Amino acid sequence: MKLAVIGGGPGGYVAAIRAAQLGAEVTVIEKDTLGGTCLNVGCIPTKVLLHSSELLQQIKAGADIGIKVEGKVTVDWESIQNRKKAVVNKLVFGVKGLLAANKVKVIKGTATFESNNTLSVEKKDGSVEKINFDTAIIASGSVPFIPPIIGSKLPGVIDSTGALNLENNPKSLVVIGGGVIGVEFASIFNPLGCKVSIIEMLPYILPPVDREIAELTRKELISKGVDIYNNSKVTAIEKSNNGLKVLFTNDKGDFSIESEKVLVAVGRRSNIVDLEVEKIGIRTERGCILVDDKMETNIKGIYAIGDCTGKNMLAHVASDQGIVAVENIMGENKKMDYKTVPSCVYTKPEIASVGLTEEEAKKKGIDYKIGKFPLAANGKSLIMGETSGVIKFITDKKYDEVLGVHIYGPRATDLITEAALALRLEATVEEIVTTVHAHPTVGEAMKEAALAVNKGAIHMVNK
Ligand code: NAI
Repeated sequence: MKLAVIGGGPGGYVAAIRAAQLGAEVTVIEKDTLGGTCLNVGCIPTKVLLHSSELLQQIKAGADIGIKVEGKVTVDWESIQNRKKAVVNKLVFGVKGLLAANKVKVIKGTATFESNNTLSVEKKDGSVEKINFDTAIIASGSVPFIPPIIGSKLPGVIDSTGALNLENNPKSLVVIGGGVIGVEFASIFNPLGCKVSIIEMLPYILPPVDREIAELTRKELISKGVDIYNNSKVTAIEKSNNGLKVLFTNDKGDFSIESEKVLVAVGRRSNIVDLEVEKIGIRTERGCILVDDKMETNIKGIYAIGDCTGKNMLAHVASDQGIVAVENIMGENKKMDYKTVPSCVYTKPEIASVGLTEEEAKKKGIDYKIGKFPLAANGKSLIMGETSGVIKFITDKKYDEVLGVHIYGPRATDLITEAALALRLEATVEEIVTTVHAHPTVGEAMKEAALAVNKGAIHMVNK
């Protein structure tokens, strides 16, 4: 089986390795750097910056836990950037090594469909190589979406890639869009001494997050000095004496904020322009490739995975879709199940969730129960000095089946795996609470929140 994988991000490279394990002859075509958005300009570099930013916050708060720092604590932006590059390079090198060890051929260039079994690949030197395949997986990812706002092309207006590569730590930043990217960058730059303002179109931030948790995050950001303007529409970006001026409007009137940089974070769009998929009749909708639950397009033998399909634009979804596509190609019968997809937002405290939000449960007319446990009552959170969080379970009223779990607190993004497994196993509250949770951990608050569903939490007064 000759498999061509277009794109070497977390969708494409994972699919390539799995296919090689199952005996396929695999070629990956990548026009840029292996590792894709996630490793080079997404998940990994943002979390490197966040890690430094969080450490600064911890050092500054050190006196609260008996660690006094004498002298000035300063930010060495160049060293932070160098560390970011080093971490990224190490991971990209690792991917390269894994592909080589699995005998996956990697071709550098831009792929275009010639027919249902031929791709032409244009390389940087202008030469073109034809690749024949039995099956192909399109894993070409996404790029930032820049809306047609007046002034969005001015110097100093950046997207997430630009924000990761700034030469200096900016003094002020306006973020257009209070989604995951906007909120994560606010969490990076605000503690570093940058004045951050978020302008969001909707009445709340983080639209897909359970509203109660999004509101806690909004309040936390405001308490740390971030200005958030909801229900606000940006009308233009202009040059000003201090750099840039963002003009926006809401029901209270017309406003403007001056800032050194403006980050546009209003979503990403599928990246399929170079592929010319329409040439071979691959069906698309609003620029995204349509696939079935086996990840196959309408053209037999051609699959698509990851951001270019416009499903959940998350690295872990792309990787899992890649495994499903490959196993189907290699003769198995697999379906992609989105029920257990965790969403993580790397704010402080972190947010992680899986399954239904309370708003979704209401909308679906489900008879549900809620169990909540505040992390102020959790020993480990108190030790860590991070007590503003909460864990929220949403369960079905009749069977007590876990339908959704939302964690706002330290290590939320690590803790969510228990909840994802609970959904996978269709676990009930009884199964969570009869699982022994280690002490002292933040994780034991999961059990307490599950106990709270039936008013049985031990370390709080149940209401
Ligand atoms: P998003 O869709 O999460 O949020 C965009 C926000 O911008 C929304 O709140 C929307 O209401 C708002 N908006 C749209 N147009 C606007 C306008 N003209 N003015 C003001 N606000 C406007 O998109 P985002 O944050 O750019 O992220 C893109 C993708 O990357 C998402 O699918 C996200 O899940 C993914 N991602 C995931 C991360 C993670 O898992 N931790 C981290 C970063 C990105």
